[in-house]
Amino acid sequence: MCGIFAYVGPREAAPLLLEGLRRVEYRGYDSAGVAVANARGAVHVRKAAGKLDSLARLVAADAPAGSCGIGHTRWATHGKPTDDNAHPHTDPSGRVAAVHNGIVENHLALKRRLTDAGRVFASATDSEVIPHLVEARVSAGADLADAVRAAAAELDGANAVVCLDARDPRRLVAVRLGNAGGLAVGYGDGEMFVASDLPALAGLAARALPLAPGQVADVTPEGARITDLSGKPTAAAPLTLPADAVAAAKGGYRHFMLKETHEQPEAAMNALRGRIAFDSPALTVHEAGFTDAEAAAFKRVVLVGMGTSLFAAQLGALYLEELARIPASAEDASEFRYRRPVLDRETLVVAVAQSGETADTLEAMHAAQTAGARLLAVVNAEGSQATRLAGNTLLLRAGPEIAVASTKTFTNALVCLLLTALELGQRRGVLDEEAVTAHVGALAHLPALLGEAIALNDGAYPRLAKRYGAMRRFLYVGRGRLLPIALEGAMKLKEVSYIHAEGMSAAMMKHGPIALVDKETPVVALAPAHGMRDKMLANINEVAAREGPVLAVATAGDDEVAALASDVLWTPPGAPLLEPIAAAIPLQLLAYHVALHTGADVDQPRNLAKSVTVE
Ligand code: AGP
Repeated sequence: MCGIFAYVGPREAAPLLLEGLRRVEYRGYDSAGVAVANARGAVHVRKAAGKLDSLARLVAADAPAGSCGIGHTRWATHGKPTDDNAHPHTDPSGRVAAVHNGIVENHLALKRRLTDAGRVFASATDSEVIPHLVEARVSAGADLADAVRAAAAELDGANAVVCLDARDPRRLVAVRLGNAGGLAVGYGDGEMFVASDLPALAGLAARALPLAPGQVADVTPEGARITDLSGKPTAAAPLTLPADAVAAAKGGYRHFMLKETHEQPEAAMNALRGRIAFDSPALTVHEAGFTDAEAAAFKRVVLVGMGTSLFAAQLGALYLEELARIPASAEDASEFRYRRPVLDRETLVVAVAQSGETADTLEAMHAAQTAGARLLAVVNAEGSQATRLAGNTLLLRAGPEIAVASTKTFTNALVCLLLTALELGQRRGVLDEEAVTAHVGALAHLPALLGEAIALNDGAYPRLAKRYGAMRRFLYVGRGRLLPIALEGAMKLKEVSYIHAEGMSAAMMKHGPIALVDKETPVVALAPAHGMRDKMLANINEVAAREGPVLAVATAGDDEVAALASDVLWTPPGAPLLEPIAAAIPLQLLAYHVALHTGADVDQPRNLAKSVTVE
């Protein structure tokens, strides 16, 4: 995830920006830069591909003087990790500088309009349109904050931006759009900061204000004026930053599980960066490392994993069959490793894991390797055993996941498996350019879609937790691509709240489990628009007819499903392949709030470890 750090105050900005960028380094990046406005009306930029040490050498060699600056660590999205593509970006005159985290979904249209108007671009990024849009307004006499608000209104997608103007070197303007890409304003003593997350502000700012989507912060050393995109002041109460490091690492959230659930839009963005060329969507540049010939040679795919990673693998198998038209199955790694599976060089075995250290998954990989199969690891932990064992690795790029319950790594595993299915489908000649373009366009919207899923149902969770928190068993049912999500939803509930929950195909109910249905057995029914909804309506009726409470997950506005259910959790309308990824979010938040209600240790549930390194 990109990192942003900005400063305005009495001190020299450059060393503070470097320190701030080191604090957001953990988010992952492949280039970095700073821009500093000095008192003589000039902005000096120092930026470089590579790690912060490269940037630090540039700054040490020729420090940009000034006490107002912006800094950025970048994961390559549009354009490779080069000096030119690194942030900050400026307009050609060098007056306005900007740093950006997110995806400007309409950047192609904006760039075409600006180029037709004679503007010249220096990079291959989507972000560079931002300083152009702002500078066009300030050079026409607009106030910087008004110019940023107007430019922000033109940007589609979930984005976080901080700008500065050479002619106003005691001012920063920050804006947050959509639910991805966090931004927080830090209140120091006669100085102010803006950062991607609260932990970056620890020890520098006494209070901090996380910006809500649609909020703009007009920041000077004296403080910050917070408005909405129309310029109307909005209420904003800064948090007092906790002193201790763990509390700071929670970034203002009560638990890591909640923080990591909320990080999913940005984590998903990170999984996409540099792997999809949005501006030439006919080509996916994501590399699982297979040539066209190798991709064509695979006769089947076996995915292996445990727990939540197995459920991700199950949806991955459906993606592969649908997009690459290749036989695919997901297997419990602990069973797979003890069978004598029939594998050969024409079998691709995909190991799915967050830790990359799960004993059963590693042994399944060894079994596959011994049988001569090709191995792809889809894993979060870089350098883990799974990544060293596999010939090819696709990193989840979810960032550190502290809670035992997997949330953002589940989502990023699904994104990476979808990318792999798209790439194999394209390399095997099964997906034509039109199909790839459509899927890539939908993926560009995924971070915003996940942000919508987080924002929906706000306020409903505590009520539902109170209503259902005393129940002792739940059934989770779904069909097709929503079956793995039902299984994962049941896993989330039981592992954080200690309430028994069983996931199954909705059709399976009639073959036995419906005998369990009574007033004390809620059934969570996944019935979004593309989730075999009509069949699910029948299943919901079967439960309701037996007085079983139904908590339906339905596409926002689907009143027909809502009318049949006892309660409903909404999920945003989305492309059929992305709908299950978004539908997992209300189930994560339901489990979290029920666990709060039962008083369980949400981040460290009893009997569980984050990584099961033993059999
Ligand atoms: C999921 O919430 C659990 N933490 C657990 O099921 C986990 O997914 C499983 O142990 C596999 O771990 P891995 O992804 O690190 O291999």
